[in-house]
Amino acid sequence: MNVNKMKKRAAWAALDYIHPGTVVGVGTGTTVFYFIEALSTIKHLISGAVSSSHASTVLLQKKGIEVFNIKDFRSLTIYVDSADEMNRFMHMTKGGGAALTREKILAAMAKKFLCIIDKSKIVDILGQFPLPIEIVPIAFSYIFEEMIKMGGQPKYRKNVITDNGNIIIDVYNLHIKDPISMEKKINALPGVVTVGLFAARIADVILIGEENSIKTINNKQNKSF
Ligand code: A5P
Repeated sequence: MNVNKMKKRAAWAALDYIHPGTVVGVGTGTTVFYFIEALSTIKHLISGAVSSSHASTVLLQKKGIEVFNIKDFRSLTIYVDSADEMNRFMHMTKGGGAALTREKILAAMAKKFLCIIDKSKIVDILGQFPLPIEIVPIAFSYIFEEMIKMGGQPKYRKNVITDNGNIIIDVYNLHIKDPISMEKKINALPGVVTVGLFAARIADVILIGEENSIKTINNKQNKSF
């Protein structure tokens, strides 16, 4: 199975959801990089983009797509992003690229959140991929301790300062059986900026790139898949 081929297939299929004149919310990561390539082929039709990371901003601008400041928008028509893992109830983990806070903001602002993944991201229980948490630096020891109490093994992500000036810890070995309550619980800890669990706000449409096809899941029609 060629994962990149499946990522690319999902990324290009996302173009069908981009309407003329739209300001497109753009996520972060390797799948999204394929999406930016695809988006550049219709750049004359869209108004521009807002971006979840410095890395995506640079790429969008290189492709000649204007990037606006998120601060100037109250809502977005569409946000396109990928995920690190997704379970069959469409709960996700994100943040492998350290952009989770802006990603969560854009997902919340979007009328339509379109998630593009390859099928290797589908798991039974979230947590095989370490769960990223963005925290303010002084809360480091406290959050470490709290994660150990929750059964995880936290690790500091070396040499990473987020676009918001914070640090990331990755929590290994969590078996996230109830993603909605874990998202609430971790978000409530003082010092946590964002946890990379996207369970309260799931995607509206999911495009899953498979070997030879695309699977489309519409969360208004399906409660799980
Ligand atoms: C970025 O912070 C992440 O949330 C990415 O969306 C996620 O890690 C998926 O990345 P890939 O497309 O590189 O697998």
